[in-house]
Amino acid sequence: MILKDKVAVVYGAGGAIGGAVSRAFAHEGANLFLTGRHLAPVEAVANDVFSAGGSAEAAQVDALDEQAVDRHLQSVINKAGRVDISFNAVGIPGTQILGVPLVELDVEQFSLPITTYATSYFLIARMAARRMVANKSGVLMTVTTQHSRMGLPLSGGYGPAMAAEEALTRVLSAELAPQGIRVVGLRPQAIPETDTLKEAFEARAKVSGMTWEQFQELLASKTHAQRLMTLEEMANVAVFMASDRASGMTGTTVNLTMGSLDD
Ligand SMILES: NC(=O)c1ccc[n+]([C@@H]2O[C@H](COP(=O)([O-])OP(=O)(O)OC[C@H]3O[C@@H](n4cnc5c(N)ncnc54)[C@H](OP(=O)(O)O)[C@@H]3O)[C@@H](O)[C@H]2O)c1
Repeated sequence: MILKDKVAVVYGAGGAIGGAVSRAFAHEGANLFLTGRHLAPVEAVANDVFSAGGSAEAAQVDALDEQAVDRHLQSVINKAGRVDISFNAVGIPGTQILGVPLVELDVEQFSLPITTYATSYFLIARMAARRMVANKSGVLMTVTTQHSRMGLPLSGGYGPAMAAEEALTRVLSAELAPQGIRVVGLRPQAIPETDTLKEAFEARAKVSGMTWEQFQELLASKTHAQRLMTLEEMANVAVFMASDRASGMTGTTVNLTMGSLDD
């Protein structure tokens, strides 16, 4: 168990990636504090973890609410004594941000992903780092997509938002690694099991004329392996990156695009 007794806080834990990472962290022995904007999906993940013999507590926390994040982290410290891993899996539905050409996009829709993704990651990371500094140890993690590095049509402010998160990973690391805190991101290729990918497809379906199957085939054809990644594969990398075995990695985003995007 490579995360045995590590205290991990997951934001957006009720989502596809947050849930998969939470289950994988629990499997490797982590003590979990799971959060999300709505409680029910987070509780469902916590129940899965209990059923598998793990430890998880669910809480309703809006990752954009600085005071709520702070109060929750303090409660984690009060109960578990420390926080070792902070994982940001917050995401907003593609239906709100994708599918409109830039020339027709209004400024609120353009700004929504940039402010939501960059601000939530900043708040979460800053609050956790303040606690981690005391132990001179900890890992801050987030998830981005290849939009950070590629010009993809009809994606509005999503690419700039992903690029901002990856830049923040580097800046956080530059400031915090001297104090023993690693900062790492994961950049997975599209994961077909998730609603996020289905929403990305639907946003483009009218324009592209493709079926769901054709859309997946197109994405898969861009990978070296000619297939898309599973949630389990992504979560396995997250476990390794969160563990002390990845002690040599900080200030970087792991390219999990299976060859779709060159380093
Ligand atoms: N799925 C993919 O194929 C894929 C691939 C690469 C990267 N990613 C990235 O991975 C991240 C997560 O994706 P996902 O597929 O897991 O999305 P998801 O299933 O929609 O999950 C996102 C979660 O974030 C929560 N959330 C949203 N705003 C929040 C807030 N202010 N405070 C707390 N929780 C909040 C949502 O909760 P509510 O539903 O309660 O609002 C939801 O549970 C995103 O950044 C996405 O871009 C996804």
